[in-house]
Amino acid sequence: MRRVTLTQFLIEQQRKGLMDADLRLLMEVVARAVKAIAVNVSKGALAGVLGEAGSDNVQGEAQKKLDVIANDILIQANEWGGHLAAMASEEVEEIRPISSDYPRGGFLLLFDPLDGSSNIDVNISVGTIFSVLRCPEGVTAPTEADFMQPGTAQVAAGYSVYGPSTQLILTVGDGVHGFTLDREMGSFIYTHPNMTIPEDTKEYAINASNARYWEAPVQRYIGELQAGKDGPRERDFNMRWVASMVADVHRILTRGGIFMYPMDSKMKDKGGKLRLMYEANPMAMIVEAAGGAASTGRERILDVQPTKLHQRVPVVLGSKNEVERVVRYHLEA
Ligand code: AHG
Ligand code: MN
Ligand code: MN
Repeated sequence: MRRVTLTQFLIEQQRKGLMDADLRLLMEVVARAVKAIAVNVSKGALAGVLGEAGSDNVQGEAQKKLDVIANDILIQANEWGGHLAAMASEEVEEIRPISSDYPRGGFLLLFDPLDGSSNIDVNISVGTIFSVLRCPEGVTAPTEADFMQPGTAQVAAGYSVYGPSTQLILTVGDGVHGFTLDREMGSFIYTHPNMTIPEDTKEYAINASNARYWEAPVQRYIGELQAGKDGPRERDFNMRWVASMVADVHRILTRGGIFMYPMDSKMKDKGGKLRLMYEANPMAMIVEAAGGAASTGRERILDVQPTKLHQRVPVVLGSKNEVERVVRYHLEA
């Protein structure tokens, strides 16, 4: 079988007119950063990368050493190539315009450098999530306002999972494509063409310890799944919760399912748990491109007009028929 590398895949996408040279470069650079992060993640205790960094991020969450390492790797890899106008990271309060030492390009890159931080020290899968926007026409010195674009404006999105193997999943809107890192060769190989999410599923993912804080439509939906074949759904459902969004979404992209981090009464003032720009939007773009759906429960995630960089939103995504049912329960309530 002919092995197609990420580089070959991207060149072919460019020939088909699906991306320009700058976007291709951006994808290559992100993939290179992902390889460097994978090396650090996999060395674990041997390289002293586990544990707390001793600092808090803008969201007031304790940073792990690997949160900081992954963030630095992504910034250093991307700042000099000339493809970006600015970056924004979940771990950094302010946006980071490209320094005047380097040429500025036309894209904005946003990332969650290390998703699933609570799993680092226990050797469970973590990942990186990224989103690409266009810097508005004529803007030479981008500010936070230039990032305030809805998810529908994303030109590309992707994530990596650092699991038993390292995988990179990408979309530019035209299907979802998966690559597996060949560690000996140091290259990503195209192993998962056109990933799709089945419309129906028997699997759901939610942190059920928050059950008493959920709103009525979510209580109703999960209650029905738990009642299984004795309830109105008349069949049993299975539950999984990795607590790394990348790993939970990756399972859904592989075999279907619904993932929920819904609104609940204890985070009402924050707007939700997951971050719109670094988690919800890129994952929603991928899930929709794979035939699934992504909603806040009340609104399509990709239509949400952001008002601030580190904004949070409720997230319901995955197999279409289940997501639509959750939305219906919200409308009925
Ligand atoms: P991060 O590590 O980037 O802060 O994200 C963690 C997120 C997400 O990956 C996961 O689905 C969720 O938080 C887990 O939350 P709980 O610990 O509340 O289950
Ligand atoms: Mn995250
Ligand atoms: Mn993170």
